[in-house]
Amino acid sequence: MRVLMIGCGKMGGALLSRWASDDALSFTVIVPNSELSEPGVRVERSPDAIAGESFDMLVIAIKPQMIAGVIPTYANHLAEGGVVVSMAAGTSCASLEKLFGEQAIVRIMPNMPSAIGKGVSGAWANARTSTEQRAAIEAMMLRAGELVWVDAEDGLDRVTAIAGSGPGYVFEIARTYVEAARELGFSEDQARRLVLGTMAGAVEMAARSDQSLADLRNAVTSKAGTTEAGLNALNGGGDLSTLLQATTRAAYTRAVELR
Ligand SMILES: NC(=O)c1ccc[n+]([C@@H]2O[C@H](COP(=O)([O-])OP(=O)(O)OC[C@H]3O[C@@H](n4cnc5c(N)ncnc54)[C@H](OP(=O)(O)O)[C@@H]3O)[C@@H](O)[C@H]2O)c1
Repeated sequence: MRVLMIGCGKMGGALLSRWASDDALSFTVIVPNSELSEPGVRVERSPDAIAGESFDMLVIAIKPQMIAGVIPTYANHLAEGGVVVSMAAGTSCASLEKLFGEQAIVRIMPNMPSAIGKGVSGAWANARTSTEQRAAIEAMMLRAGELVWVDAEDGLDRVTAIAGSGPGYVFEIARTYVEAARELGFSEDQARRLVLGTMAGAVEMAARSDQSLADLRNAVTSKAGTTEAGLNALNGGGDLSTLLQATTRAAYTRAVELR
C-alpha cells in the first residue's frame, strides 16, 4: 500500500517509527522544514516532488488549524478508492469531506507513548471505509499499542480528551509530584526516580489486577496511617475529582470547537 503522510512532527513521527518497518506499506512523507530520516521512508519537502503520483492512503499529521490551507494541495493525490486517515484533534469528517469530497475517511486519535509501542489510540471510520481499509488501519495502530474503535464520531473527541491529551496530564501530575518530593528534601534525581518508579509500579500493578482501583487504594491505606493522611489532603474534599473532571471536559470542549 502506498502511503502519503502530510506532516510528520511529534505525533506523526512517533507513529511513523512504528509503521516504517511494515513491509506492506511504502511511505512518502512531506515535511517542509525539518530533517527527518527513517529507514525505508522517502522524505520530500513540497507537493512539487510528487506531481502526478497517487497514493492508496493519505495520512494527515499537521496541526488542525493548518488543514484548510495545506490539504487542498494534496487532495488530488488520493487514488480512486483510497482512504484518508486524519490524526488531527477535533477536525471533523464533515470538514475533511469539504476538502476531499465523499471518500473513505478514518479519524484516529493516537497518543504519545505510541513512540514506544505503549500508545492507546481511538479510531472511527465513516461508512465509505471498506473492511480491508479498516483492517489495514487497525494493524497499523496495533503496532503502536492498544486500539479502541468508537461507533460515533463524537466518541473520537471524547477519546482525545482522555487519551490523546492524557499523557500531557500525566506528565504534569508527575512533574508536580517530583516538585513536592524536592520540597520534602530529595535531590532532583532521587525525586524523579522515587516518583516515576512509584507511578510506573502502581499503574502496572493496577493493569495486571482484577481488583477495583478503590480496592487497590484501600489496600495501601491503613486507618489513621500516613497514606490516609496524604489522601485526605489530596482528595478528601473531592478537589482532585473536580479538577480531573474539569480537565477532561475542557479538552473535550476544545475538540468540539475545532470541528
Ligand atoms: N502531539 C500529540 O500528543 C498529539 C496527540 C494526538 C493527535 N495529535 C495530532 O497530530 C497532529 C500533529 O501534531 P504534532 O504534535 O505532531 O505537531 P508538530 O510536532 O508541530 O508537527 C506538525 C508537522 O506538520 C508539518 N507541516 C507544517 N506545515 C506543513 C505544510 N505546509 N505541509 C506539510 N507539512 C507541514 C511540520 O513539518 P515541519 O516541521 O517541516 O514544518 C511537522 O512535521 C495534530 O493535528 C494533532 O492534533 C497530536
